[in-house]
Amino acid sequence: MRRRSVIEDARVLREGFIPKRMVHRDNQIHEIKRNLEPLLENDSPRNMLLYGPPGTGKTTMAEYVIDEMQKHSSEVVMGSVNCWRYPSRFKVYYNLLQDLGVNLIHRTGTPTDELVDKFREKAIKRKTVVVLDEVDQIEQERILYDFARENVALIMIANKETALYDVDDRIRSSLEGTREVHFPSYSTEELVDILKDRRDWGLYDGVIDTSLLHRIANRADGDARVAINSLRIAAEDAESGDKEEITEGIVEKSLPKAEKQNKSKSLDMLNRHQKALYDIIQDEGEIQPGELYERYSEEIDDPKVERTLRKYLNKMDHYRLIETEGEGRWRKYTLPE
Ligand SMILES: Nc1ncnc2c1ncn2[C@@H]1O[C@H](COP(=O)(O)OP(=O)(O)OP(=O)(O)O)[C@@H](O)[C@H]1O
Ligand SMILES: [Mg+2]
Repeated sequence: MRRRSVIEDARVLREGFIPKRMVHRDNQIHEIKRNLEPLLENDSPRNMLLYGPPGTGKTTMAEYVIDEMQKHSSEVVMGSVNCWRYPSRFKVYYNLLQDLGVNLIHRTGTPTDELVDKFREKAIKRKTVVVLDEVDQIEQERILYDFARENVALIMIANKETALYDVDDRIRSSLEGTREVHFPSYSTEELVDILKDRRDWGLYDGVIDTSLLHRIANRADGDARVAINSLRIAAEDAESGDKEEITEGIVEKSLPKAEKQNKSKSLDMLNRHQKALYDIIQDEGEIQPGELYERYSEEIDDPKVERTLRKYLNKMDHYRLIETEGEGRWRKYTLPE
């Protein structure tokens, strides 16, 4: 068998890997901790909104802090759900209950209220943290109202601080006092530091030069996920080419490949409504909202309301799948080059 010469530990470069050390996020980690601390003292925890562009460590830092807390207190439990993937009230509670160790047989007939009751019963006995990731994609926003009134620590994660600005007044006021924790894009230098750790833990010594990590970081545009994926692909390319080093040539070739892969991953996340919107924009090259909604409604049997479509389009814009130009009636959607 050929000896692997580049990758020493493939897990370190994979998406879900939680590193033992987080760099350049001390303030955010500290803030999340501080907001959760009252929970340990049987006080009311503060709800939070973590916001910032893709790949800035929001999901990872939330998990990291909760993980640390769980090491100190066995009473702390966490339920987490990605509301982009599971936007309905039923799915949200279903996923949370699973995380809390309640075994549910997936009967579509189970009324959601039954799940909610079960959740309450469970959550009340423990110190419960609820993470609603991609919260701006949630279907029934009154879920937020419900959680805000429970004695759980609510961590909401979104791309923008305005994610919840247009929910109705009752929900908004129930979320008053929510602490906002900002996750700005990483600088190139910060990304280099993140990449250095992954290199040191995941690759053999001397496989890639720091100057090439700079090159990768530079192209990642502040997004740690993109940077790490690019390093992984470069390492895989070097290894499959029987090389012992990741050269500049390999990095240059792997970067567009990584970008393509990142994009197709984001596309995979789209639901059929979002996919329809994307296809129409692709088809037209450039389209205004009114026309886009019209074409979409012609194509889809159970169209969503405009407000939901705007939510979808915002999300797609954040993940750079589409581009939005102009405001109001001058707005246009296009695909990035
Ligand atoms: N400060 C950091 N130190 C080490 N690794 C990091 C850091 N920030 C992010 N990462 C890594 O980058 C990747 C992306 O991070 P994460 O998924 O938390 O981003 P996100 O802000 O939740 O993005 P999105 O908005 O797209 O969901 C993960 O693999 C994570 O381990
Ligand atoms: Mg995330």
